[in-house]
Amino acid sequence: MAMGVLQVQHQVEIQRNRQVWARKPLLRRIYSGFYDRILKQVDVALPGRVVEVGSGMGNLKARCPGAVATDLFANPWVDAVCDAYELPFAAGTLSHLILFDVFHHLEFPRAFLREAHRTLVSGGRLLLFEPYLSLVSWAAYGLGHPEPVGWGLPISTAEVAPKHRAYYAAQGNATRWFFSRRHPVRLAGWEAVECEAFAAFSYLLSGGFSRRAWYPGGWLPRFEWIDERLTRWPRLFGARCLVVLRKASGEGWGSWALRGVSGVPRRFGRR
Ligand SMILES: C[S@@+](CC[C@H](N)C(=O)[O-])C[C@H]1O[C@@H](n2cnc3c(N)ncnc32)[C@H](O)[C@@H]1O
Repeated sequence: MAMGVLQVQHQVEIQRNRQVWARKPLLRRIYSGFYDRILKQVDVALPGRVVEVGSGMGNLKARCPGAVATDLFANPWVDAVCDAYELPFAAGTLSHLILFDVFHHLEFPRAFLREAHRTLVSGGRLLLFEPYLSLVSWAAYGLGHPEPVGWGLPISTAEVAPKHRAYYAAQGNATRWFFSRRHPVRLAGWEAVECEAFAAFSYLLSGGFSRRAWYPGGWLPRFEWIDERLTRWPRLFGARCLVVLRKASGEGWGSWALRGVSGVPRRFGRR
């Protein structure tokens, strides 16, 4: 699909989502909880700028005003138009890269990780907030969401992304990369700080941006309470995940499959 067509589609979606965001306080409260999780992982002691890649409507900025909002497509709230595979930042200058629902749009994740590794300072953090595919959320994402799950499709290991690319989405990619034994991730030069999958019925039943909510806003605390308990069984009930990687100090970008991600807390049950 041509870039111009993608841009038009993007703008139509952004305008629609902005309207939903404005009239759906339930969604704003749920996202505020998601942003809390992400921002807890921001280490303010790290030197360098915080950059959000694929900022879309730019909502994170309200919670993290210092962050540089970037996206493939221009909008008044976007500080820099750029491609995730080719970031316009000098090597070793960023403290954090934040991607909210963007990683599963990156057909060449390894090429992106290489670029993230280049731009982060030593010890800098890459934060990926993504759909998590469990037994229950599979049905929701597979049947209730227009983007494909892409579970059986190969994930590219190319180190360089082509300039001209088609639209890509595979909602299951973060689960496969970071939580699955069948596709054990091997990332030289990175350490895992956190690999957390959690239940999110409060989110799934909110209808997100595309559907009506299945419950009234006043019930959110009850659903959050349920989510907290069901998070004990992420493979069964998980629906969202947060992956935090740290650029290992003193290590360059090495060859594929040098070693596995280390330090993943066991309580989150890598599959
Ligand atoms: C699902 S939206 C998420 C937007 C926003 N982060 C949010 O949570 O609302 C994915 C965003 O990633 C952007 N995107 C997709 N591929 C990209 C790439 N290669 N480089 C930069 N941004 C990209 C899209 O333009 C879109 O804004």
